[in-house]
Amino acid sequence: MKKVRIPDLARWKRQGRKITMLTAYDATMAALLDRAGIDALLVGDSLGMVVLGHETTIPVTLDAMVHHAAAVTRGASRALVIADMPFLTYQVSDEDALRNAGRLVQQGGVQAVKIEGGRAVAGVTRRLVDTGIPVMGHLGLTPQSVHQLGGYGAVGKTEETAARIFDDARLLQDAGAFAIVLEAIPSDLAERITADLAIPTIGIGAGAECDGQVLVSYDAFGLFDRFVPGFVKQYANLGQSIVKGAQEYIREVQDGVFPGEEHSTRTPLVVKKESA
Ligand code: KIV
Repeated sequence: MKKVRIPDLARWKRQGRKITMLTAYDATMAALLDRAGIDALLVGDSLGMVVLGHETTIPVTLDAMVHHAAAVTRGASRALVIADMPFLTYQVSDEDALRNAGRLVQQGGVQAVKIEGGRAVAGVTRRLVDTGIPVMGHLGLTPQSVHQLGGYGAVGKTEETAARIFDDARLLQDAGAFAIVLEAIPSDLAERITADLAIPTIGIGAGAECDGQVLVSYDAFGLFDRFVPGFVKQYANLGQSIVKGAQEYIREVQDGVFPGEEHSTRTPLVVKKESA
C-alpha cells in the first residue's frame, strides 16, 4: 500500500482519475476511511461545527487543530493528510502563518495545510510553499468569512464574482498551491477553472467536472443533521444507527438483560490451603 504523495494528485488530474477526499477528526474514523481507500483526509475546521458544537468554524483554535490532526495522522496509513489553518492563524503576518503551519506539520504530522481565500492569501501561500509546506487553496464559499458573505449560500453567481474566483484560482496556482477546493460555486464556473488549471480542483457543491470531490464525513454518513447542505449525499445513516443502538442498550440495562452471563467474568474460586 503506497502512501499518497502531493505529486500523485496532479498526475491523477492529467490521467483523468478522480481524486477522493473526506474530512476526518480522529484516529478511528481516519483508519476506517483509509481502509476504504480514500485518497486524502482533510482535518477540516468544520471540526468546530460537527464535533465541537460551535455555530461556525471561526472559534476553532490552532491547538484544537494540532490535537485532532495528530489523531488523524496516527490513524491514517495511505491517505494524504491535510489540515485546515484556522481563522486568523495565517492572515496576520507571513511569519505568524509560517510558525502556525509549522506546528500543524511538526506536531500534527500532516503533509499539507489548507487556507481560505484568493488574492489576499497569494503572498502567504508563496511563503509557505517556498518553505516546503504544501498549500491547498479554498475558493468560493469560504466558511471563515461567513459573516462577510452573509451565510452559507452559493457564491460566484454573478459575472463579476465568477470572474474574481476564476482570477483567484490562477493566482493561487501561480503562488504554488498544489490543489484548490472549490466550494458552492456554479458547476460551469468550476468546469472552466478545472479546464484552465494544471493543478487539481476538489469540488464540494461545485458539480461533477472538478478533478475530485470532498464531503464532510459527518454529513456524508449521517452523523450531523443540524444543518445539511443540499449538495450533500448521505451514504449512510450512522446517526440513526447510534440512536437505535443506544435505545437498545438503555432498555437492556434497565431490564437487567445486559450484562448477562456471556458478558460477565467470574473470579475463579481460589481455595486457600490450610497451613499445617
Ligand atoms: O472544513 C472543512 O471541512 C472544509 C471542507 C468543507 C472542504 O473546508
